[in-house]
Amino acid sequence: MPGMMIKELKAPLELTETELGELKPGYAKVSLKAAALNHRDYWITQGLYPGIELPKVLGSDGAGIVAEVGDSGDQPWVGKEVIINPGWDWGTSEATQSSEFTILGMPHNGTFATEILAPVEMLRERPKHLSWEEAAALPLAGVTAFRATMSQGQLRPGEKVLISGVGGGVATFALQFAVAAGAEVAVTSSSEAKIAAAKELGAVAGFNYREEGWQKNAAQSFGRPNLIIDSAAGKGYANLVELAAPGGRIVNYGATTGPPEKVDMFKLFWNQLKLIGSTMGSPADFRGMLDLVDRHQIKPVIDQVFSLAQANEALARMEKGEQFGKIVLRI
Ligand SMILES: NC(=O)c1ccc[n+]([C@@H]2O[C@H](COP(=O)([O-])OP(=O)(O)OC[C@H]3O[C@@H](n4cnc5c(N)ncnc54)[C@H](OP(=O)(O)O)[C@@H]3O)[C@@H](O)[C@H]2O)c1
Repeated sequence: MPGMMIKELKAPLELTETELGELKPGYAKVSLKAAALNHRDYWITQGLYPGIELPKVLGSDGAGIVAEVGDSGDQPWVGKEVIINPGWDWGTSEATQSSEFTILGMPHNGTFATEILAPVEMLRERPKHLSWEEAAALPLAGVTAFRATMSQGQLRPGEKVLISGVGGGVATFALQFAVAAGAEVAVTSSSEAKIAAAKELGAVAGFNYREEGWQKNAAQSFGRPNLIIDSAAGKGYANLVELAAPGGRIVNYGATTGPPEKVDMFKLFWNQLKLIGSTMGSPADFRGMLDLVDRHQIKPVIDQVFSLAQANEALARMEKGEQFGKIVLRI
């Protein structure tokens, strides 16, 4: 089975023939049609991710057709068009994942391949309104955005929401979900073109986070958000704490630019702010995400589609931060 493998850190992925392994009971063999990138894949290539094991096929997102199952009871799955929930062994608590929790694509061989073995309980039927590329774009970023905005963020209709760094894969979903849920949404980005694209998706305002004092402008023209969804942290985090409405929530699912340089504790406690962490999502979050996508016929924003063999070019685009939405590999 050919797959794009990471063999060495900071080196290009290599298209390599690998053994798929034994099809165990409870597992399915899926012939993949498309996969998608997440920032995690890039972090792994750079050695900036815990628990890296080499060599490994990368990729957490995939969509394809079930070719074979390990259990006769799972026979009805054969021939079904599916997406794969990449969050395995979440456990029984909605509050947090178990210590067994793992993410498809490290330590398991991932989706940048023609075939994959995945637990049948992680399969969901492909949403009918989505193409293969759109379906592959959905799982990891979709569930992360859903949990951050809905489960952890507790978004209510009519609230003001700010999504930072809207060009990101998760951020574009967070924008679409918040708009669908009836929020008034503003975004930040490094790019005017991305802000314009976000407005096409329903954002009512956009601000360039590279402009000094953008948060003061946002407070005046948009108002102070009840909910902020962020994955950048870093130096700009202080601006989010300043901007949040009294009683507001700031949800972080990442720290792309490193830890916050400072947090004004006076603003934090005086304004009764809640700082909330969020990671991927439970099986219930995954179901909730699929329901929302189905109810509102939401289509993932596809930035660009590459072939499997072009995975290194796709990673280079992500490294440069050029994308608006998801970068996809056609298999
Ligand atoms: N905890 C989890 O479960 C989880 C799940 C998924 C992702 N993550 C993390 O979340 C982050 C985003 O992941 P992704 O896959 O969506 O990545 P991505 O598609 O590569 O998007 C990254 C985006 O970050 C934005 N950004 C960069 N510098 C910024 C800054 N100073 N302020 C605000 N935004 C900034 C950029 O937005 P513009 O292009 O608009 O400037 C960029 O497009 C990564 O750190 C990733 O590891 C965590």
